[in-house]
Amino acid sequence: MFLSSISLQNFRSYKKSEFKFGKNCTVIVGPNTSGKTNLLEAIYFISTGSSFRAGKDFEAIIFNDDIARIKGEIISNNEKTGLEIVITNGRLEGNDKPSKKYLVNGVPKRKIDFMGNFQTVMFSPEDLDIIVDSPFLRRNFLNSVLEQVDRDYRIALTSYEKGLRQRNALLEQVKITGRRNEKQFEYWDELLIKNGEAITKKRGEFVEFLNNSDKEIFDFLITYDKSIISKDRLLQYKEAEVGATVTLVGPHRDDFSVFMFNNSRQTTHNVKFFASRGQQRLVILQLKLLQLSFIEKKLNLRPAFLLDDIFSELDEKHIELVLEIVDKQQTVITTTHKEFIPKQLIKKIDIITLGKE
Ligand SMILES: Nc1ncnc2c1ncn2[C@@H]1O[C@H](COP(=O)(O)OP(=O)(O)O)[C@@H](O)[C@H]1O
Ligand SMILES: [Mg+2]
Repeated sequence: MFLSSISLQNFRSYKKSEFKFGKNCTVIVGPNTSGKTNLLEAIYFISTGSSFRAGKDFEAIIFNDDIARIKGEIISNNEKTGLEIVITNGRLEGNDKPSKKYLVNGVPKRKIDFMGNFQTVMFSPEDLDIIVDSPFLRRNFLNSVLEQVDRDYRIALTSYEKGLRQRNALLEQVKITGRRNEKQFEYWDELLIKNGEAITKKRGEFVEFLNNSDKEIFDFLITYDKSIISKDRLLQYKEAEVGATVTLVGPHRDDFSVFMFNNSRQTTHNVKFFASRGQQRLVILQLKLLQLSFIEKKLNLRPAFLLDDIFSELDEKHIELVLEIVDKQQTVITTTHKEFIPKQLIKKIDIITLGKE
């Protein structure tokens, strides 16, 4: 499976552009702000239906326009699949409600059915935030892995998030009116428990996979700090959640911590606080390599591997390690200078040059 072409209209810095890719390794070369990360973002978008960048997806629409389009062609077993996303900010519709449309071979699809046609794993400098930033980004990471391999996970997550919004709206009402209608809560509680349990279980399995895998780049152990949702737990937080007007238990409050081993193989140190930036980067690289093998194990295919700026991010030894696996799947690498591309690589890659008229 690989992406053979992508065309962009009004996406970020691209007014109208098309790029072709071979099924092996492509290196995108261009100076700062020439649109390298934007192009990787578009590839990731066509894979997952969303951006990996912080902020709102509609912000990817080119400045001063209202609608952006990404079209990709995937080739898998000699069959072509056309994927398309249309991003709007809602101004043309007159409601200022941003929206995204998903199409597969020209036919509109729900996001849960759009996803799953093309898998990607992204490694970028910003991924360090997964370790150092808020739990939100760590949950996002878990979702981004599991959503790509598991349609049931996508369904459970969509349903859970919708239920959560409804239940929180009910809590708001309870706070305003001082009355609680248990019947109304029953339905949403049940829906959240059912889908929440499914999400927790699948996240747990992924963490277990990570912990049981060999790690040649950086050894770590993950603890999954799950927020279990159950009848008892909801009862326990019943008073507190009215004050907070949000549901206080469930996978939307999950987190995980990464611990590194010391010399006596004790895992006492959280990499968030004790690892250097360089080590944290290796943890992320290791995580992403394990994500590749997780997807392979689940789907029996290698996802495309997207590497943003690795030649300036990693030391030589780790660049070597990454280069050893670039042949195993479609790989797209960005770099600012052609001279940064290692000699052993240059023979077997396609090059896309940006920033020159
Ligand atoms: N919505 C947008 N519309 C137009 N330009 C944008 C938009 N979002 C970001 N940009 C521009 O894209 C450029 C950055 O592109 P990027 O792909 O990050 O560059 P790099 O090649 O350094 O990775 C910046 O000049 C930025 O202003
Ligand atoms: Mg960049």
